[in-house]
Amino acid sequence: MHHGRGSGIYAGVKINGVKGMNDVLPADVARWHEMESVAREVFALYGYREVRTPAVEHAALFARGVGEATDIVNKEMYVFEDKGEELLALRPEGTAGTVRAFIEHGAFVEGPQKWFYMGPMFRRERPQKGRYRQFHQIGCEAFGVAEPYLDAEQIALLADYFARLGVTAELKLNSVGDAQCRPAYLADLKAYLVANQGALCADCKDRIERNPLRVLDCKVESCQPVLEKAPRLLERLCEPCRTHFDQVKAGLDALGVAYRIEPRLVRGLDYYVRTAYEFTSDALGSQSAVAGGGRYDRLVETLGGPPTPGIGFALGEERLSMILEKVGRAAPERRPAVFFVSADATGALEGLRLAAALRRAGIACELDPRGGKMKAQFKQAERVGARWAVVLGGNEVATGQAKLKDLQTREETPVALSELAARVAG
Ligand code: HAM
Repeated sequence: MHHGRGSGIYAGVKINGVKGMNDVLPADVARWHEMESVAREVFALYGYREVRTPAVEHAALFARGVGEATDIVNKEMYVFEDKGEELLALRPEGTAGTVRAFIEHGAFVEGPQKWFYMGPMFRRERPQKGRYRQFHQIGCEAFGVAEPYLDAEQIALLADYFARLGVTAELKLNSVGDAQCRPAYLADLKAYLVANQGALCADCKDRIERNPLRVLDCKVESCQPVLEKAPRLLERLCEPCRTHFDQVKAGLDALGVAYRIEPRLVRGLDYYVRTAYEFTSDALGSQSAVAGGGRYDRLVETLGGPPTPGIGFALGEERLSMILEKVGRAAPERRPAVFFVSADATGALEGLRLAAALRRAGIACELDPRGGKMKAQFKQAERVGARWAVVLGGNEVATGQAKLKDLQTREETPVALSELAARVAG
């Protein structure tokens, strides 16, 4: 990821990118392609199909879907009036829009569906390492199945994905209950937090009324003693939620996916019920979550569809990319096979023509259209990482014979130009 650099010595007035929104430069894009192509490969093995939804939705979708009381909607959403007509929002996450599309296109009539997406999301957070205002998520959403083995399968999918990329991430698992068991728990939690609010930070106090579950997530050191002793929802689950959670664990055990039960794991979005999970990595520092998700069995209904259970997750590509960089996993960029070096004007034109012919045969090649000194052209060939160089001039064009120079071994072998493609292919 790159942040603007430049000395401002030029005449024009420089306009920088927006704070918290990053460029991914060509040298890094190979890694992004890898994250995305491995996702497509692994997700297909599990029957997930890609969906593409707009980056802009009605603001009301997120207010109702993600929750009015969440920071994401309440503080961080980019909302604007579209020419004074409608209140629109840049999507802060992908689930609400995916559910909207699922309902709008009547996809529920076909039975259970598994969809995935990738793309930019927007949250007006305070930018820091691993936290940006435009970031990219790869997410999966599975609709129509309430049974816990789906949860286990989806979590295993994500574990498989990380393993394929050579990334180690720790799975944290919790159940946040449902409409049966949560209300009574929340009342007790609130009472406990109010009784102990003297020992809590301002943020926590602020959240007791608005979003008491989120208080459990506070990372401030001085709040920890109170939070550690807070009542635990995991110990208060109703029977159906308890059984569901036990079966998720049994499924994960059967699949050999290791997890740690984290009774204080809560998520920053309101739609979750039962299963909640996160994958974290030590390579990330304070923003340690590389992926998060959970069940949202009421969301489709809340957004105007038929009762349809669901579960999903999203992973942050910027964060995953940081981990990949740390573990030294470099996705190789495609290098040109051949670099044409021109000795004169006739050779320059022949290079242009031959390069085009080779590219039509699927062979990457380059030349320096500036021509100039051959030594400089050879330098350029090395800079772009070409495998071979071919010098072309009037003589080569006249005889149809040239020399193929291996830029690693420096060996030169004669080659007929008509056979060049065959020689360098593969
Ligand atoms: P989330 O936990 O808000 O969940 O985001 C998922 C992941 O996106 C995080 O674990 C993190 O890697 C990345 N992420 C979030 N905010 C930022 C940011 N400001 N900068 C960089 N990366 C960030 C969701 O968004 C849910 N929609 C996930 C889900 C799908 N639940 C069910 N289905």
